[in-house]
This record gives sequence, structure tokens and C-alpha cells, in this order.
Amino acid sequence: MSRAPLRVAVLGAGTVGREVVRAFLERPRSLRTSDGAPLELAGVAVRDLAKAAAGGMPAELLSDGPAHLVADPKIDVVVELMGGGEPARTLIAAALAAGKDVVTANKHVIAHHGEALEAAARASGAQLRFEAAVGGGIPVLGPLALDLAANRVEAIRGIVNGTTNFILTAMAERGLAYAEVLAAAQAAGYAEADPTGDVEGADAVNKLVILARLAFGVWLEPGEVSVSTARTDGSAGLSGITGVTGADVAAAKEAGFVLKLIASAARVAGDDRGAQVAAAVRTTAVPGESPLGRTNGVLNRIEIDAEPVGRVAFSGPGAGGGATASAVLGDLLAVARDLGSTWAGRPPAIRGTVVAPPVEPAFAGPSGARYPILEAAS
Ligand SMILES: NC(=O)c1ccc[n+]([C@@H]2O[C@H](COP(=O)([O-])OP(=O)(O)OC[C@H]3O[C@@H](n4cnc5c(N)ncnc54)[C@H](OP(=O)(O)O)[C@@H]3O)[C@@H](O)[C@H]2O)c1
Repeated sequence: MSRAPLRVAVLGAGTVGREVVRAFLERPRSLRTSDGAPLELAGVAVRDLAKAAAGGMPAELLSDGPAHLVADPKIDVVVELMGGGEPARTLIAAALAAGKDVVTANKHVIAHHGEALEAAARASGAQLRFEAAVGGGIPVLGPLALDLAANRVEAIRGIVNGTTNFILTAMAERGLAYAEVLAAAQAAGYAEADPTGDVEGADAVNKLVILARLAFGVWLEPGEVSVSTARTDGSAGLSGITGVTGADVAAAKEAGFVLKLIASAARVAGDDRGAQVAAAVRTTAVPGESPLGRTNGVLNRIEIDAEPVGRVAFSGPGAGGGATASAVLGDLLAVARDLGSTWAGRPPAIRGTVVAPPVEPAFAGPSGARYPILEAAS
């Protein structure tokens, strides 16, 4: 007896969405529920129908009405890959309210509206999965929620933004100035036309907020996480990597460091509910020979300190269509197998408070920036 297919709508067929659609077209046998029913691609939403069809997307499935797909009673699962704030948030919320499972790679929406979306999923019983929102193709949220569930996570830190790591790596290896490397990264497609969200640290903050949800059981407010580098004269520094000069990179190298944009979050001592988290995203002086120091180009690396396991690390391709689609499809199969939401049966998150990290030893760059030093044990 053939089993009823699980019908999937994919919203967005850009860098990531088109790879997800291709998996349906080219590897349909790999997409099945646990009782063998096929996953069926039932609709693909884009803005520009002609462009998507010319790019090989199945014309008969294309729609420029994502809300209609979400509302269609024949759709069982919504895969949101449009990105940005709206209409993505509204579409995800509508799908969850209707009891439809949702898979998304949208770090902005999950970081800024995760608390409400988690409540909506819990209320309707729908599954909400977002592994691809952090670290692209690197499995990290699943292991945090599931394999490390018996641990108490003390701290998390990592390189979670490929664009800034590409820029800092090129500055260090080729001795180039920030503006020059940024322009080259934009030309090569490693940085967006408007790179603000990457270079000023907001993208890394979003990923840190999502990591903190799984690590500490709290939703943090992204706006409370500092992205600025202190200055030796005590004034407020620039955001993310925007103030890093070639001279700072060269002086750091002389001293045995590389500058990296490090997202970090630590449980504040004495708080057994984990509601207070010292979190920041800062350009940091990292020992050049440490695993984080050797994480170059668009690679990502996330390190987790937990008790009793000790330190575990996850590294790999943090972006790219194929790598990110790998995480999206993994989540889709998890949904099809009823494995639950990304928080994997953990209790509802509580609201967390962000506090500033303690003052650490710092490396003073010639520009006047004061880069915190990551301890050498990394
Ligand atoms: N790219 C990566 O390496 C990567 C890595 C990790 C996570 N992510 C996340 O994955 C998501 C998708 O990223 P992407 O790089 O694939 O984006 P993208 O290349 O810009 O593609 C976005 C797609 O969504 C469609 N779209 C946007 N707004 C729409 C609307 N209002 N109605 C209908 N369709 C709409 C676009 O259609 P048109 O082309 O017709 O406008 C396009 O097909 C984002 O949340 C991103 O943060 C991406």
C-alpha cells in the first residue's frame, strides 16, 4: 500500500533554496518519512517567476504568493529560505499557528522572534527547526540540544561569520587594507552589496543568541549584545571588524596573534538557572597557532565548554548553497520523522539577561583599538 506523501512548500529559491529544490528533483529517494512515505515538493515561492524558471526551477510549481502556499491545506511542511525580517516572520508564525511544521535558515527571524515562535510551536504542537541558521552546514544546534543534553554548558565561543573571517584572513595573509579586501570580497560574492550586517557584527550576534538558546535555555535580546571594540583611551570603539586597520593586523601578527571576530557567551557564575549570560561579539586577538587562530577564510568554528564533557568543537563550511541546504534537508528529514523541534524536548526557554564579559587582558593595536585576548588554551 502506498503511503500518503508529506507535502512540502519551499519559500525562496535563491542560493540555499535552489539547492533544496534540486535535492527534490535529483535525489527524491533520499527524502522519505520513517514509514517510507515520499516527501513531495508541492510549491516553490519566489518574487521573480521568470528568473526562477530560467534558472531551472520547476515552472509548474512556482508561485509568487508565499502566503497562499502557507495557507494551502494541502501543504504539510513549510521550508522558509527567503531571508530577512518580513514577510518571513509572518509566514513562519502563520504556518506554526496552523500546526504546520517549519524548517528555516533565517537567523534574523529566529534570533529576534525566537521566543514568540517557540511559544507558537509549543502551543500548536508544530515542529520548528533551524539548524542551518548557525554555522551553515555545520551540525551544532542538534548536538548541543541532544548529544550534549546531559552536560551543563559553561561557555561558547566561535567564528560564526564567514564574510568577516574571509576579510580578516585576507588582511593578515596578503597585508591588504580593510576597504580593499571588502571590495574584493564583494566582487567575489563573499560579501553582500550592503555588508553592514556582517561587518558590524549583527549577523554574528543573531547566531550567538540562537546558540545561547540551546546552550543556556534562555532567549537573549540581540540589541543587548555589544559588538564594539574598546579603545585604549576609553572611548567607544567601532562595531564588528569595521575599525580594524592593516597596522593592527600586522602588529598582532608580530605578537603571535591573529585578529578574529569572536562571538562568545558564558554562563555567569552563581546563576544556577542560567538566566544571566555574559555575551559579546568582538574583534579579538587569538593565538595564531590555536584552532580558532587557524580557522581561515569562510570557515566557521564553534567551541563549547561543558561539564562533564570538557571542550568540544565543531568546524566546517559556515555558508554556501550546498552546505546550508545539507542542514536544511537534515532538518526536513527530522521533521518528516517526527523528531521534534531543534530544542529537542528541552523545557521552554526563559528570558535571559545579557551582561558584559569581565575585563580581560587586551592587545593594544596601533589604531588605539583594545582587542581582548583569547586565552591560549584554545
Ligand atoms: N547563502 C548562504 O550561504 C546562507 C547560509 C546560512 C543561512 N542562510 C540563510 O538562508 C536564507 C536564504 O538565503 P539565500 O542566500 O538563499 O538568499 P537569496 O539567495 O537572497 O534568495 C532568497 C530567495 O527568496 C525569494 N524571496 C525573497 N523575498 C520574497 C518574497 N517576499 N516573496 C517571495 N519570494 C521571496 C527570492 O526570490 P527572487 O529571487 O525572485 O527575489 C529568492 O528566491 C536566509 O535566511 C539566509 O540568512 C544563507
